[in-house]
Amino acid sequence: MLKEGTQTVLVLDFGAQYSRLIARRVRECKVYSEIIPYDTPVDQIRAQNPQGLILSGGPASVYIDDAPVCDPGIFEMGIPILGICYGLQHMAQVLGGKIANTEISEYGQTNLEVGSKSALFKDLPHSQEVWMSHCDSVTTVPEGFRSVAATKNSPVAAMEDLKRRLFGVQFHPEVAHTPSGTDILKNFLYDACGCLPTWTSVSMIEEAVDAIKAQVGDEQIICGLSGGVDSAVAALLVHKAVGDQLTCVFVDHGLLRKDEGAQVEKTFRKHFQIKLIHVKAQERFLTKLSGVTDPEAKRKIIGEEFIRVFEEVAAKMEDVKMLVQGTLYPDVIESGTRDAAKIKTHHNVGGIPLDMQFELIEPLRLLFKDEVRAVGEELGLLDEIVWRQPFPGPGLAVRIIGEVTAERLDLLREADGIVSEEIKRAGLYRSIWQSFAVLPADLKSVGVMGDKRTYSSTIAIRAVSSEDAMTADWVRLPHEVLARISSRIMNEVPGVNRVIYDISSKPPSTIEWE
Ligand code: XMP
Repeated sequence: MLKEGTQTVLVLDFGAQYSRLIARRVRECKVYSEIIPYDTPVDQIRAQNPQGLILSGGPASVYIDDAPVCDPGIFEMGIPILGICYGLQHMAQVLGGKIANTEISEYGQTNLEVGSKSALFKDLPHSQEVWMSHCDSVTTVPEGFRSVAATKNSPVAAMEDLKRRLFGVQFHPEVAHTPSGTDILKNFLYDACGCLPTWTSVSMIEEAVDAIKAQVGDEQIICGLSGGVDSAVAALLVHKAVGDQLTCVFVDHGLLRKDEGAQVEKTFRKHFQIKLIHVKAQERFLTKLSGVTDPEAKRKIIGEEFIRVFEEVAAKMEDVKMLVQGTLYPDVIESGTRDAAKIKTHHNVGGIPLDMQFELIEPLRLLFKDEVRAVGEELGLLDEIVWRQPFPGPGLAVRIIGEVTAERLDLLREADGIVSEEIKRAGLYRSIWQSFAVLPADLKSVGVMGDKRTYSSTIAIRAVSSEDAMTADWVRLPHEVLARISSRIMNEVPGVNRVIYDISSKPPSTIEWE
């Protein structure tokens, strides 16, 4: 998908929680970056013709027996390398320096003093704050290197070998707590590696379109739409490449947000004139969900039913051999390394059965979410879809705690619509990761309305901030916004007499209630 000659800087991932962030920062500096495993053989690295390499941090100590090591041949490639934290220590060790466990771990923001004449710190303050997180330190730099910056506890907080263009920093330039971090990366990328700031996700559109044309040829192709930004942008890119060879399939399971189905129709069929099969399957899903209260059972039923519907549609379309998926780069990086305990069974439009024998087209597999949004904007996708907050595949079913019924869905949809409207009105929608309503359906409480006793439902409001949904914090919404949401829901949604605000972070809670 990348144009030949695209300047690339590869990040060798030693397992740091920040590796992904390094690649994102490099891309923000308008240089294309990909993450590869730390032990990728040097021949494979050379084949990608990178302008430079970044060795990420990692949880290991260089001392332990099975400490991760890279192919030492990378240091002979003659291209610039920047080691960060573990990456610096590993580089120092391989090239003959000394590392010691200093007994003093440095964690958090620390003051860094920069010596004179350093390429990494060119035009940057001599004294600056940086973010540290380490126990080991380089005590003697390898031959050819100079220490160019120090902190109170790290005499070698940064080192450089200008002749070989090898660099290392003990701190994390990729995190926001290192204010000059991006400038340090720019010095490495532009000056040391000689990269030009020319890459943007939007600049990939033409290449992606050409690659899709080449892959699809004359074949017919289908794409499952969810109403979210990823599948929408994937579909638009493919449509731009092969036009009417694409048919989009939108399975409306009746668990969508207010007006979502109508918006997909309007956007794809009317605005972009893309062939669209809109399967209205609400009855089917409701029947299967009847009497089910267990969260995992709900998720499995919806996932399976979704697949059945999709299979039936695909079976009726002759000669379809290819399927578009809106897989993003974080999924690509994580797949294979994900061995965390299962918390929830996830289902999404990408969860099409493997035995369907489709060839996959994944035009977004190298992009991060914000880059996909930029591509969506460039392709003329409505703001409402480009900036839509994430929504789980099983939809409102995992926001109704208890059995899912048509009445409860209607009630929740109305309440959720009010939450969205008010959050948008307050100008907060884009900055909040997710904001929505939850119906704990079996929770009834006593209220009073017009001098009469009521015994009705409660709506919980959830609003969280997050970078990647792995962790999240509840948003300190302004009281006026909460007040408006509360009074509107109780006035406008029949059957609700109480509104509560969820003040749980993740962990220990999760974002969705089920
Ligand atoms: P939790 O509730 O696990 O959710 O903290 C993390 C993020 O994932 C979304 N989510 C899903 N997305 N299919 C999806 O595509 C699913 O089955 C699913 N379940 C949760 C959730 O909205 C949040 O953004």
